[in-house]
Amino acid sequence: MENNEVKQTLLLTEREEDIQKAAAILRKGGLVVFPTETVYGLGGSAENREAVDGIFRAKGRPSDNPLIVHIADIGDAERYAYPSPLFYTLAERFMPGPLTVILPKKDILPDNVTGGLDTVALRMPSNETARRLIAAAGVGIAAPSANISGRPSTTSFRYVKEDMQGRVDAIINGGDCAIGLESTVIRVDGDSITLLRPGKITVEELSAFADRVEVDKAVYRLLSDGEKPLAPGMKYKHYAPKAQVILLEGSEEAIAAFFAAHAGDAGVGILCFDEDLPLEGAKVLTLGRCDDRDAHARRLFTALRDFDTMDVDTVYARLPEKSGLGLALYNRMTKAAGFAILRV
Ligand code: TXA
Ligand code: MG
Repeated sequence: MENNEVKQTLLLTEREEDIQKAAAILRKGGLVVFPTETVYGLGGSAENREAVDGIFRAKGRPSDNPLIVHIADIGDAERYAYPSPLFYTLAERFMPGPLTVILPKKDILPDNVTGGLDTVALRMPSNETARRLIAAAGVGIAAPSANISGRPSTTSFRYVKEDMQGRVDAIINGGDCAIGLESTVIRVDGDSITLLRPGKITVEELSAFADRVEVDKAVYRLLSDGEKPLAPGMKYKHYAPKAQVILLEGSEEAIAAFFAAHAGDAGVGILCFDEDLPLEGAKVLTLGRCDDRDAHARRLFTALRDFDTMDVDTVYARLPEKSGLGLALYNRMTKAAGFAILRV
């Protein structure tokens, strides 16, 4: 496939005959976008070098940013990696589910899957359609999030079609993703865990399984020149809508007052909670109720994309707290904002 080749994209359902069609496409080296519980994935056979090249091209992704290999069964981990005892302990508790674990890789994987690294990221999704597809394909599926590189990940059929139609052989419509933020990515070394990307499985939950859970600095801040994140993907610009996102830090009252004062400004969008409504005159989207972090996670990427259609050049939102699932929201939103934070 050339860079600008427009593909005929089959739109498929989650029915058995469609899963079989998609699996056949994958076995032949084609590309299939499929739903997972976190975000949609852009899949190709992890054992097929050309298919993997095609994934990087379809996304416009830098080739040094490694892909996650998705498996349907924990038993398949050994086909691609050298799993450790801690891996199996974590797998028992969190897999299938939104956890990705980095392990030493086996040679069966072409080196473009892992961007030349000697480790591979493994994940077993809990989404039924994803697992049925991987099992039917009979091979591990390499899949990054199904978005054009640099854009917010896709969590709905509408937006995944917008980014991927014409770039892949098929898209399976799985509706809205249940979690809405990408999986937690960790590295396990002996008895210790390093968090490379926060997600639904939190540092607090992981702490029960390791002597130490270290959080990579790239989770919290922009790295300076010369600093290297442990996950190559964390150095790239990400999740960015067209508008500049500015995150507000301050007391509840100060933030509420700021929203009210700027709601009427031209070109301003506000990303808030249900409790902030109504806001007069503003282009407003809500992430849900203040205390419902699962809802915030589910809605964030769709909201960022919705603002692209709303004729706004600045979006104000709250800076999330860093505990629990809040850390994943903090990480995605600070990246979407390019770390623009305003104290109010
Ligand atoms: O929820 C998810 O994880 C979704 C769905 C589709 O499964 N996938 C996803 O893939 O978010 P992607 O490619 O957008 O993000 C994978 C992240 C990147 O930051 C990448 O650099 C990191 O994982 N990663 C992958 N393999 C790695 C490795 N061997 N060492 C360090 N980081 C790795
Ligand atoms: Mg991604």
